[in-house]
Amino acid sequence: MNPIVLIGFMGAGKTTVGKKLASKLGKSMIDMDDQLVKRLGCPIDSYFATFGESAFRLHEATLLKEVLQKDAIIATGGGAILSKENQLLLKDQCTVYLKAEADILIERIRQDQKNIRPLALKNNDLELKKMIVERGNLYEQLATITIDTSQKIPEKIITEIIKRVEYDENRLSRS
Ligand code: S3P
Repeated sequence: MNPIVLIGFMGAGKTTVGKKLASKLGKSMIDMDDQLVKRLGCPIDSYFATFGESAFRLHEATLLKEVLQKDAIIATGGGAILSKENQLLLKDQCTVYLKAEADILIERIRQDQKNIRPLALKNNDLELKKMIVERGNLYEQLATITIDTSQKIPEKIITEIIKRVEYDENRLSRS
């Protein structure tokens, strides 16, 4: 079985939804940020501060290649879709875009004290909004399935993902 890859901006709920989806489907869940923290030996914000974003992106790209070989639910980091290389890798995957309104995303990002996002430290709300719009186009283009998560609890989001994935699989097997 191929992995189900969750994409979307920071704060979209990829980790929360990924964990619940994995447990519902009896699959393992790989959180790329968690794996990278283990691999890099420090939190992502410290790594960015010491080595810079491009060094982080290299590790992220290497990990993405590895995890796409697994039968798992994969929660990517919000920027994993930025490089052409990763876009090509994701093109043939079952990729689910968790879409949410900019104001909701920014509020979640700003409130999350456990997960300090370096790009949220560096950018003000207006700049984050611009990133959400720009990246939004990329997420849309790459996604095989887009789920609007606004006002939805994780259980409802998961039910929608499962329905859509099954529908796509049935459609493919008939064509
Ligand atoms: C990033 C998103 C973060 C993390 C890193 C960079 C981004 O992951 O990978 O801080 O560029 O959007 P989350 O989307 O899980 O917050």
